[in-house]
Amino acid sequence: VICRKFSHSASLNAIKKVTVVGGGLMGSGIAQVAAQAGQNVTIVDLNSDILEKAQKSIQNNLGRVARKLYKDDPSKMEEFVKEANNRIKVSTKIEDGVDADLIVEAIVELLEPKQKLFNRLDELAPQHTILASNTSSISINEIGSGIKRKDRFGGLHFFNPVPVMRLLEVIKSDEMSQETYNTMMEWGKSVGKTCITCKDTPGFVVNRLLGPYSAEAFRMFERGDASKEDIDIGMKLGAGYPMGPLELADYTGLDTNKFVLEVLYQKTKNPVFKPIPLLNKMVEEGKLGIKTGEGIYKYKK
Ligand code: 3HC
Repeated sequence: VICRKFSHSASLNAIKKVTVVGGGLMGSGIAQVAAQAGQNVTIVDLNSDILEKAQKSIQNNLGRVARKLYKDDPSKMEEFVKEANNRIKVSTKIEDGVDADLIVEAIVELLEPKQKLFNRLDELAPQHTILASNTSSISINEIGSGIKRKDRFGGLHFFNPVPVMRLLEVIKSDEMSQETYNTMMEWGKSVGKTCITCKDTPGFVVNRLLGPYSAEAFRMFERGDASKEDIDIGMKLGAGYPMGPLELADYTGLDTNKFVLEVLYQKTKNPVFKPIPLLNKMVEEGKLGIKTGEGIYKYKK
């Protein structure tokens, strides 16, 4: 009886150790919010340069948070940053990260590498460990199709910039247990997010709705209906968005936009997601947005 009770279950609030696989923008943001919440975090990435960059950006962003929390108290600011930083370890070896209560994957948006990673994590991680993917559009069930612990697996989809955006989408895989779902929702709350739930459907809630909006903004610009600036000003001042759709595309990366639209088109066949020649051309030319110095707009490097 005792074995049954304790073997497969990660009870509520049990998430004390988190591993994030993938040290890019999303991975480092996820690691940051978990460390801020008092959890011990390991970031695993095959590339040590990426890990170094992740540590620097986390340090900077913790500074931003600390300045906000402890405006008039420099010593508290310093302590906050130091303590959160001390909770973060990095490694290039997956074996160093498997001993965790929750492992969140935030690697490249491709099905096969994700499947391989989850199969490996499933073999190496302890029984109770919950596995989750931060994919923005790939099917959660497909990603986890090769693992055994399907009851302890699902999607945890964060938004960029992770430390600022207040939402977390919790994606229910077909075989996810109620207990895993509850633990994921609790964990999301513990890292300061408001959680919403979505079935494993293309683009989940947010990208399914952002997709047509963003696609039509590109087409509008492509047709020359309005200037890029006016399209963005239109949605900021006319609809209250913090960024216009073209600014947002530059911010998230045109390659990511293209990829999300492709997946949505492939899965839904809805013509609103059809390829956009302008977007394809820009991605081919390496104009991916802020990260490359040029997208719809130009940026100082
Ligand atoms: N880490 C920590 N804090 C950050 C930060 C970061 N990376 N970036 C910004 N901040 C903080 C700033 O310190 C500032 O805090 P304060 O208001 O307390 O001083 C606050 O956020 C606002 O930042 P700024 O003043 O620099 O700039 P803005 O007011 O223009 O806000 C923004 C920047 C938060 C990015 C805002 O423009 C925004 O919300 N944009 C829309 C972002 C969005 O829609 N993201 C979702 C994209 S879709 C996605 O991610 C899904 C994926 O699957 C593709």
